[in-house]
Amino acid sequence: MESVAKINEVPNFGKKVVSVAGREVLLVNVKGNIFAVENECPHQGSPLNAAIVKEGFISCPRHGYRFSLVDGRCAEHTELELKTFPVQLSGDDILVDCS
Ligand code: FES
Repeated sequence: MESVAKINEVPNFGKKVVSVAGREVLLVNVKGNIFAVENECPHQGSPLNAAIVKEGFISCPRHGYRFSLVDGRCAEHTELELKTFPVQLSGDDILVDCS
């Protein structure tokens, strides 16, 4: 796991894009729970940093498909899966495992 951001850089209900091992990772804060997902929709590749987050899902701004922040499963098309990454907090640091 590597430190990718400080907790205060991702406000509650906010997002932040970080670069980890050559890939863009989107951090999402939902009431203090930090999630990390690939910043690329598995449908047609739209970035997700402008996506709406609601009730545990992130909705792609392009066609509106919803993906679980926990396991990446798509609510509309179960064959699609958004890549998710394990997250840990260590003090003020957000640690993400992108291996
Ligand atoms: S590109 Fe994301 S739903 Fe189509």
